[in-house]
Amino acid sequence: MQEMLTVDLKDRSYPIYSGTLLPYGTLIRKALPGVKELMVVSNETIAPLYLDKVHKELEQADFKVHQVILPDGEAYKTVDSYMQIMTALIEAGLSRDCALAALGGGVVGDMTGFAAATFTRGVDYVQIPTTLLAMVDSSVGGKTAINHPLGKNMIGAFYQPKAVIADLTTLDTLPRREIAAGMGEVIKYGIIYDSAFFELLEEQADLSGLLADKHKLAAIVRRCCEIKAQVVAQDEREGGLRAILNLGHTFAHALESYLGFGTWLHGEAVGLGLLLAAKLAQSRGLVSADQYQRIEALVRRCELPCAIPEAMQAEDFLRLMRHDKKVKSGTIRYVLPQGIGRSQVYADVSDSEVSAMICSFKQEQPAAEDPFNRQHPSVPAAGSCPSPQADCQKAGDRKTAEPLVRKVKP
Ligand SMILES: NC(=O)c1ccc[n+]([C@@H]2O[C@H](COP(=O)([O-])OP(=O)(O)OC[C@H]3O[C@@H](n4cnc5c(N)ncnc54)[C@H](O)[C@@H]3O)[C@@H](O)[C@H]2O)c1
Repeated sequence: MQEMLTVDLKDRSYPIYSGTLLPYGTLIRKALPGVKELMVVSNETIAPLYLDKVHKELEQADFKVHQVILPDGEAYKTVDSYMQIMTALIEAGLSRDCALAALGGGVVGDMTGFAAATFTRGVDYVQIPTTLLAMVDSSVGGKTAINHPLGKNMIGAFYQPKAVIADLTTLDTLPRREIAAGMGEVIKYGIIYDSAFFELLEEQADLSGLLADKHKLAAIVRRCCEIKAQVVAQDEREGGLRAILNLGHTFAHALESYLGFGTWLHGEAVGLGLLLAAKLAQSRGLVSADQYQRIEALVRRCELPCAIPEAMQAEDFLRLMRHDKKVKSGTIRYVLPQGIGRSQVYADVSDSEVSAMICSFKQEQPAAEDPFNRQHPSVPAAGSCPSPQADCQKAGDRKTAEPLVRKVKP
C-alpha cells in the first residue's frame, strides 16, 4: 500500500508518501538525486527497531550512510543533542553536498530539521516519521526546533524537507499511549477544518480497531497530511491561516510546562487543550453544547486525559500562557473552533473569561474522576493550592481585551 500527495510550495514542493512497507531507498533516492552521503539521525529506542533496515535500503540506493544516535525523549531536544549531530557531521567529514534523514518521532524530526537548516548554512533532509503524531503533524510543514530551558521550541527555523516517508508498519511497535497522543492532533484537524473527517473519526476512532486495520489508519493519516499540506501551502510561515493548526496548543503548552515536559505526552496535553478551547468557544456561543459533547466524547474515546490536573489553577494557565510564542504585544491569542470544521484566531479573550471557563471546567470535570488523568508526583497536593474560586478572582482582575486582530478562512 503506497499513496503520495504533495506539499505545494513552488520550488520547495515535496512529496509525502504514506503506506506500508515503503521502499525507503528508492523514495529517498528520488527525493535526493545528487546526494552521495547521508547522515541518518535516530534515537536509542528507534534505532534498534528500524535503523538496520533503513541503513541497508539506503546503501542499496547508492548512498554512503552515516549514523548518529541520540538519547530518547523531549528532555533531550536540546542544544547538546543538536551539537551531537553537528559533531557527527563534521567528524564524518561531511559538507554542503550531504543530506540528513530523521528516523523517529517529532523530537528526532524537529532536531534533525534544525540541524539540516543550519549545518553549513543549510543542507537537504528527509523525514521518516515513526510515531502517529509525527506522521500526521510534525514531519510535514517545515517547522524545526530545539528547546531552550526557558521555553519549548524557542530555537528553530522554518525549513522544509525534500520528502516525508511515513510507513505505518512502524506503528506496530509504538506504545498504545503514544498512539492515543497522536490522536490528539488527528482530532484537531477535524475540528479546525473538516466536519466530515470529524464524523468519520466518530465512527472509526477506537484505538484497537484502528491499529488492527491499517487501511483505516492510512486513510486517517492521509487526510491529516492533506489538510496540513493545504494549510501550509497557503501560509508557510504562520502569517495567518496556519495559526489554526495551533488549536488547543496554547493550553497544551501551559499544561506541559506546569507538569514538567514529558510528564504528559504532547498529544495528551493537546487533547485536553482541545476541550478547553472548545469550552471557551462554547462560553462565547461559537460551539453548541451538543458539539462540545461530541468533541469531548471523541477525545475520551481516544484515551486522552479529559480533566485538568487537580493542583493546576486558572492562574497557572494564564501565567504560563503569557510565555507562549503566539503572544503578541502581551495579548494571548486563542484559536477557537466555530462549530465543528471551522476555526479562527481571537485576540479579544480576557483573562477573566479564561479564568471563569477553567474554574467551571474543573468543577464539571474533577481530575479525580478522570481515568486517564496523569498527575506528576512533584505537583503539589490539592490542599496546598488556592481554591479555584480564589484563583479565579485573582486572575480575573487582569484583562487583555482587544479587538479581533485576524480573521482566517480555512
Ligand atoms: N514541527 C512541528 O510542526 C511539530 C508539530 C507537533 C509536534 N512537534 C514536536 O514533536 C514532538 C513530539 O513528537 P512525538 O509525539 O513523536 O514524540 P517522540 O519523538 O518523543 O516519540 C515518542 C516516543 O516514542 C518512541 N518511538 C518513536 N517511534 C517509535 C516506534 N515506531 N516504535 C516504538 N517507539 C517509538 C520515541 O523514541 C519516544 O520515546 C514534540 O517535541 C513537539 O514539540 C512538532
